[in-house]
Amino acid sequence: MKIQPLGKSNLHVTPLGLGLAALGRPGYINLGHAADLGQNYAVEEMEAHAHSVLDAAWAAGIRYFDAARSYGRAEAFLSSWLAKRQIAAGDVVIGSKWGYTYTADWQVQLDEGEKHEVKDHSLPVLQRQMGESRATLGDQLDLYQIHSATLESGVLEDGAVLAELGRLRDDGLAIGFSVSGPNQAETILRGLDVVVAGRPLFAAVQVTWNLLEQSTSDALRQAHTAGVGVIVKEALANGRLTSLNQMPSFQAQALVLKQIAEDQAVSVDALALAGVMQQPWAGVVLSGAAGVEQIESNVQAQHVVWHADLLDQLAFLVESAETYWQIRSQLSWN
Ligand SMILES: NC(=O)c1ccc[n+]([C@@H]2O[C@H](COP(=O)([O-])OP(=O)(O)OC[C@H]3O[C@@H](n4cnc5c(N)ncnc54)[C@H](OP(=O)(O)O)[C@@H]3O)[C@@H](O)[C@H]2O)c1
Repeated sequence: MKIQPLGKSNLHVTPLGLGLAALGRPGYINLGHAADLGQNYAVEEMEAHAHSVLDAAWAAGIRYFDAARSYGRAEAFLSSWLAKRQIAAGDVVIGSKWGYTYTADWQVQLDEGEKHEVKDHSLPVLQRQMGESRATLGDQLDLYQIHSATLESGVLEDGAVLAELGRLRDDGLAIGFSVSGPNQAETILRGLDVVVAGRPLFAAVQVTWNLLEQSTSDALRQAHTAGVGVIVKEALANGRLTSLNQMPSFQAQALVLKQIAEDQAVSVDALALAGVMQQPWAGVVLSGAAGVEQIESNVQAQHVVWHADLLDQLAFLVESAETYWQIRSQLSWN
């Protein structure tokens, strides 16, 4: 897999990366998560499983890995894998995120009132989680992202947080922010304007963009032009853009999508990922694979021969941002 600069940052990444949201903890919102893990939640089993997916990603050439403090033990599994395989800091790019604290205590189903993760973008949380990420990943950590910045959270205007992020940047850590929800585009544009000590703060933005949710296309073109690297998450719409999607409301679309994938002789997931990878602004597209078979299918995306007609053929899939995020909000932890 080729290695390319991520925007104007000094990070060099592969066009496909692996995200660990589905691998670091028993519960997640992707459609068939419980089945992926065979409901086998012993920490050692989950660590071995995560390592097998990381091995398959590495063998396929992937060199960007994405974690977060809130993905359970994702940073720890990544760290133990890097050590076991003796992978040096310069051979991979590791991103993580701060701003959500994992609170599910290794459970999948929680009692009423309990939460899987708690959001807090304050300075004390940044300082605590930075310390935890550094303690786990050491100098392997290359990129630290605000986890799901929104305009309402106020984090992009919080002088104390921005100054701390500026200090981390000046110490050599790349700083990014991820966005979520129907107002992703506005948040991206706000983020592009954040300047600390006379320089733009953010080297990268992580965004949901896929064949269903394309409301950020213009903002991402602007980010790319400004030299901000674009990392794409949820490129398979949490499993909705795979052959396993059984949602009744999606079956008509699924049939056409399957036919187009068959015509291209690829899996639905590889086609959907290729549709993101061929965007001129796409820096890294994350696979969220939950198993070895999935990552092996996902990486076929790099071999899809893309032609302009394909995006037109697939345009019927696009949903409004409101519809997309409304459906996503109904996905249950499993
Ligand atoms: N706010 C944020 O910053 C944020 C939010 C979300 C994600 N992320 C990052 O983005 C990464 C990817 O996102 P994501 O995992 O949420 O979404 P995704 O990439 O859209 O979906 C991944 C899911 O698709 C399904 N899948 C993949 N390949 C398949 C195949 N060949 N056949 C059948 N099903 C397949 C699996 O779900 P099943 O469970 O159905 O098997 C897998 O867990 C995460 O790991 C994380 O690093 C960041």
